[in-house]
Amino acid sequence: MKRYARITGWGKSVPQRILTNHDLEQMVDTSDEWIVTRTGIRERRIAGPDETTATMSVDSCRKALEVAGVSPEDVDLIIVATSTPDYLCPPVSSIVQHQLGATRAGAFTLGAGCTGFVYGLVTASQFIETGLFNKVLIVGVEKLSAAVDWTDRSTCVLFGDGGAAVLVEASDQPTGILSCELGSDGSDWDALFYPGGGCVKPFSEEVLRKREHYLRMDGRRIFRFATRKMTESVINVVRASGLTWDDIELLIPHQANARIIEMAVQRLGIAPEKVVINIDRYGNTSAASIPLALCDALEEGRLRSGDHVVLVGFGAGLTWAAAVLHWQPERVAGEAIAVDNWPLFSSLFQPVAKVRNAVWSTQVHARARLQDLALAARAPINQWQRWLRR
Ligand code: ACO
Repeated sequence: MKRYARITGWGKSVPQRILTNHDLEQMVDTSDEWIVTRTGIRERRIAGPDETTATMSVDSCRKALEVAGVSPEDVDLIIVATSTPDYLCPPVSSIVQHQLGATRAGAFTLGAGCTGFVYGLVTASQFIETGLFNKVLIVGVEKLSAAVDWTDRSTCVLFGDGGAAVLVEASDQPTGILSCELGSDGSDWDALFYPGGGCVKPFSEEVLRKREHYLRMDGRRIFRFATRKMTESVINVVRASGLTWDDIELLIPHQANARIIEMAVQRLGIAPEKVVINIDRYGNTSAASIPLALCDALEEGRLRSGDHVVLVGFGAGLTWAAAVLHWQPERVAGEAIAVDNWPLFSSLFQPVAKVRNAVWSTQVHARARLQDLALAARAPINQWQRWLRR
């Protein structure tokens, strides 16, 4: 019998401490107005000294297990997606496994930047569909406050701390990931990286003096990449799922910048009420941002059983990932996913769906091209304005 991977539990863990844009105004040369208009961020959570990537992971895993009614000893595997592990060695996933009391579980840490959670969810689903495992925890978690340079206004205003986890269990009912895309373009590896502290340039006085152990980012390069890749990968996964955009109830994008999301949403022609945006409250929490937004959407009652949801992320690497998910956390005997409800009916209408999808993606590509041309035309004006300001 074919096996499917169903999300049955979820939970988030964010630090209590809130750092507002006004607080940041006291720390670096910035303003609430600049941060809100350029990024959409109003505040972010900052971990205290005792809050670590491991503690936030364990807290969110416990909540996910509680929702699913599963005990830690029954978990087969834990995947922790993060760019800010507690230590370079050992993997933080083993600390999480131990502190959670998941005595039977294997564990590994997954590094795919902000895209890590979607990579982890796809990986977990494969383990379950092949029959190797029955219960897998996936965590997206970051303590970015420990990784950013608090004297660099171009990065420190963007990031925040937090974590969220989901439990994926085996199911005999069709549900879970309907289609996915995992991508990487390492030619832009230096758009977001730590110049020092790794094995190429181990930690030294020079690294410390040049502050190379902190995150460096080429924001504009990532902005261009993100708007293009978000649009393309959403089109690809919706098309591959056999659904049309009308069948999708919710889009959960990585929360890096509200302008990136708005631009991609405009290109895709999606109704804004179908898009989850919580960057105003958390900032960019990298690998945690998609599961955090998923938890918030559930708390706000925006995601119901039977819905189809698109997850899409991009990040360091540069990487990207997208997935169409059939959301049905509870066991429903005999109920099949929407596309398979009427196999004969849907096969008759498949050519129509294909044409609708082709029209939709042509429109999206045309809109994207126009937006790119408009942006390119504005570039010299922006440069001139910058020159005048100086
Ligand atoms: N406050 C005030 N001014 C600032 C600040 C700040 N915090 N930061 C930069 N500026 C200034 C710059 O110095 C620049 O001044 P200048 O014109 O005199 O040179 C001006 O603001 C404009 O700078 P830009 O870099 O052009 O600003 P832009 O509109 O591109 O926005 C931003 C910058 C927000 C970083 C944007 O490029 C962005 O969001 N890029 C994507 C970043 C991203 O997604 N990163 C993470 C991806 S991977 C992951 O999520 C881990």
